[in-house]
Amino acid sequence: MASVELKKVQKVYDGATEPAVNDLDLEIEDGEFIVFVGPSGCGKSTALRMIAGLEQITGGECVIGDRVVNDIPPKDRDIAMVFQNYALYPHMTVARNLDYPLRISGVDKAELDERVTQIARTLQLTELLDRKPSQLSGGQRQRVAMGRALIRRPAVFLMDEPLSNLDAKLRVSMRSEIARIQEELGVTTVYVTHDQVEAMTMGDRVMVLNGGRLQQVAPPETLYNRPGNVFVAGFIGSPAMNLWSSTYRDGAVELGSQRVPVPAEMAERIGLDAYDGKDITVGIRPDNVHDDATESSDGNVDVTVKVREALGSEVICHFDVGVSRMVIDDPDLEEMMAEGLAPDIDFVGRFSPESSVAPGEKRTVRFDINKLHFFDAETGLRIDS
Ligand SMILES: Nc1ncnc2c1ncn2[C@@H]1O[C@H](COP(=O)(O)OP(=O)(O)O)[C@@H](O)[C@H]1O
Ligand SMILES: [Mg+2]
Repeated sequence: MASVELKKVQKVYDGATEPAVNDLDLEIEDGEFIVFVGPSGCGKSTALRMIAGLEQITGGECVIGDRVVNDIPPKDRDIAMVFQNYALYPHMTVARNLDYPLRISGVDKAELDERVTQIARTLQLTELLDRKPSQLSGGQRQRVAMGRALIRRPAVFLMDEPLSNLDAKLRVSMRSEIARIQEELGVTTVYVTHDQVEAMTMGDRVMVLNGGRLQQVAPPETLYNRPGNVFVAGFIGSPAMNLWSSTYRDGAVELGSQRVPVPAEMAERIGLDAYDGKDITVGIRPDNVHDDATESSDGNVDVTVKVREALGSEVICHFDVGVSRMVIDDPDLEEMMAEGLAPDIDFVGRFSPESSVAPGEKRTVRFDINKLHFFDAETGLRIDS
């Protein structure tokens, strides 16, 4: 097994004006499971393919173990890769599909059998070894593809959106399956996905990329609780964080014509007082908006309820506060705006299934003022000294 280090790694494709990956610095520990996540086209696959050696690095260095691998071909990097479109040999049994990479490199029969037995046990394929791929479910086939990649015991295991061809239910069960297998084998793993929920449930750490640049790399809880910039704040979490352009003044932030107080202790701790009178971006997650406001509660906000989505276990409430929410990475909305349709983007709260909120109703909701997030309007960086 091995660590992976990217040092100011850059990729400029032939003929491109902008780098697809820019100055990427990242240390992946030996045995770590790291997920690369970000919107389509942000450079995830390019970064992964540079580690794999499938794409030439145009700047910086990639180090695997203690070797700089920039000029080492993929087959000599001791890596294995599983793609979205994996192909099994249809005429071979599961066992032969699994041991194929070892057979072609001349490993002896006893060793072959032992490795197949072991990897089949880890991947829970023991009962299926004599079947042909056509007799397997989608999830089983995906496990065989992973087994075939892992049977060589690579130092680094790379996966690029391996679940995107599976149906939603299977995708969810395969997530935990892959996390279990990775844990059991302890192989350094880089996993690419555009799905932030997948990223948050699988990785020890998650690297968020946007426009070829690293936004934040951290454990999932940190990305969620302390997003380092506005992009991460808006990208991680579903429904997305409510973000709005505001001004901080005299201990409160503006929300349209209303004011939301900021706890004095918090303003002091994070250094918000330095922003008095200045523009900032403020955020609150839907989970931190509550429908239990009373006359004496802090953070009360008058709203007009627009939509009530009853999802069984929760009610998602869309409401108007007289100011538009900022939108980060929503291709549908961006398309509408490009067509000149600039909808007012409502705020969102996540309430209990018993919530009485009803469309058209004017009511007061409560923002948990201890859970506000603040970002510098110019740099987009989290305000938190
Ligand atoms: N072979 C290529 N030649 C030129 N540009 C490419 C090539 N592959 C990807 N790109 C561009 O590089 C950027 C990053 O692509 P990619 O790494 O595939 O993103 P992601 O995997 O995050 O969707 C995109 O703008 C894409 O169009
Ligand atoms: Mg990709």
